[in-house]
Amino acid sequence: MHILAISGSLRQGSFNTALLRAAADLLPPGVTVTYYDGLEEIPAFNEDRVTDRPESVDRLWDAVAEVDGVLISTPEYNSSIPGVLKNALDWLSRPLIESPLRNKPAAVIGASTSMFGAVWSQAETRKVLGAIGARVLDRELPVPSAEEQFDEGGKLVEKEIEQELASIVQALVEAIEARAAALARR
Ligand code: FNR
Repeated sequence: MHILAISGSLRQGSFNTALLRAAADLLPPGVTVTYYDGLEEIPAFNEDRVTDRPESVDRLWDAVAEVDGVLISTPEYNSSIPGVLKNALDWLSRPLIESPLRNKPAAVIGASTSMFGAVWSQAETRKVLGAIGARVLDRELPVPSAEEQFDEGGKLVEKEIEQELASIVQALVEAIEARAAALARR
């Protein structure tokens, strides 16, 4: 089983990227994670280029197509989804019928330095993924005051947050297994 981890932050010291690494540590054996790191190269969405996608968008498209599920960790910018992440999701949404996100199990988590833990951007990311046709887990992981949540080794310091993260990644694995079983019955 293979999961693509996408951070909505390009920042070197991103807490959301750290959260993805913490999530990967909690996955059961046999599940591999690829960290998508090409978000900065994705140009602004242009519907004229949907049938002639830029190479960087092709790489994103293929990276999503090749995996069994997607885990997104997103910051909140001005109460919403960071533009770079929304832009990438827009590229992945056209042609809609061909989108590699269609029917793909997906989970969204997020960290912010405020006390709310990026709940709005997580909700909006789930909404966008749902509009594209992904099988979005109805779960969220708000990680507030992110600058206090990781130790020097990048591990989560609050056991409750770590347990909730483990529960969400387990739910994503189960959603992937359920989809594989449904496909096998066809
Ligand atoms: C923020 N931040 C922020 N936090 C929040 O909880 N709600 C918000 O609306 C915003 N808005 C916002 C806008 C912009 C342009 C920036 C740069 C930041 C703060 C944000 O939570 C903080 O910078 C996080 O550290 C961003 O996540 P990464 O980069 O650490 O993953």
